[in-house]
Amino acid sequence: MNIEALLSPKAFVGLDGVTHLCTGGESPWLKVHEEVYAEFARLKSGGDEGRRLIYARGEACREKLGRLWGVPAKRVAFVPSAAEGMSWLARGLEWAPGDNVVTTNLEFPSVAYAWRNLRELGVEVRMVEHRDWEIDEEDLLEAVDERTRVLAVSQVSFYTGQNLDIEQLSVGLKGKDTLLAVDATHASGVVQVTAGLADLCVSSSYKWMLATHGVAPCYLSERAEERTEESAFGWHNLAVWPAQRAERHPEVDVKAMPEKLEPGNPAMVVVMFLDRALEILLGLGMERIEVHAKNLSEFIDAGLQKARRTVISPSRRAGRSGNTCFLAEDAKGVQQQLAKDQVLVWGEYGRVRISGHLYNSSEDVERFLDALAQI
Ligand SMILES: Cc1ncc(COP(=O)(O)O)c(C=O)c1O
Repeated sequence: MNIEALLSPKAFVGLDGVTHLCTGGESPWLKVHEEVYAEFARLKSGGDEGRRLIYARGEACREKLGRLWGVPAKRVAFVPSAAEGMSWLARGLEWAPGDNVVTTNLEFPSVAYAWRNLRELGVEVRMVEHRDWEIDEEDLLEAVDERTRVLAVSQVSFYTGQNLDIEQLSVGLKGKDTLLAVDATHASGVVQVTAGLADLCVSSSYKWMLATHGVAPCYLSERAEERTEESAFGWHNLAVWPAQRAERHPEVDVKAMPEKLEPGNPAMVVVMFLDRALEILLGLGMERIEVHAKNLSEFIDAGLQKARRTVISPSRRAGRSGNTCFLAEDAKGVQQQLAKDQVLVWGEYGRVRISGHLYNSSEDVERFLDALAQI
């Protein structure tokens, strides 16, 4: 099989002679980000006008996120991390004893445990069990009852790479009061994300979206906005009008989305990196990137099966993503062995994760399989 990279690895820092298959952990750094940083530095030194231009880049980034996720840009805020997005919902809803949250027992900690303070209030967290490493969407929907306030899942699993059917969950919740909260960290930038199917959709920027830490775009639906109380206030999300000048009044309104979720300035340099990376992703087209990643996943899977490894990623094409994973008792040891051959993967918690993104090719997969055969 021959799968060519959609973007040359030469577009990234540090990939000469390296087989980088670990974007699910940390993506490599685009060389073009050096120009973005230089531009940020120039604008940062440019006083009020420079600041205005930095903010304008932020709005351009929001507009691209709206296109990427199929939602109005003004419903996407910049929060500091995916964990903060999920916690914002946990903090913002009005909870009562007997309420519950439905999630899975294979979830990333930030999704599974965002609700941990609510236990004291008598809120139950229901962890739906996987079936031989797959989460069944029907099992999730069956766990929802009239007291389920939130169904919280990752679109793509950090552990198995399963790409959940978010549309099925959204349709299954129609007419119910339950909010659907999606962590799209392992989906956004590599497979299609339709944020409008959810009430909250958040993604970190440092993996498949090719930016870095400190900014996580967060979509909030109108009904989730109505139901949630803000838990942090500052000059950025409060309607402190210039006419008010320096004198404070006891009352002040909170702004609507997107500022509502941004009590202070987001990390604008990261927003600028994200803006540039999204230009590349949108330019190539998400459909193309998704087909490429799934082709790589199938190729990796076939090689792992041949090597008699226990693959835990779904074999259905619809359930695939950029992550293909196999069980290994000493997953970190496998990662370290492969790194000696300049093959970078991510191994922890008893499984090894191989991530294929737009700069990977079938040659990378062959190098990985050859190196794995030596272990
Ligand atoms: C599903 C998922 N969500 C969130 C994160 C981390 O994102 P953040 O640091 O922005 O909270 C990870 C990191 O591995 C992840 O796998």
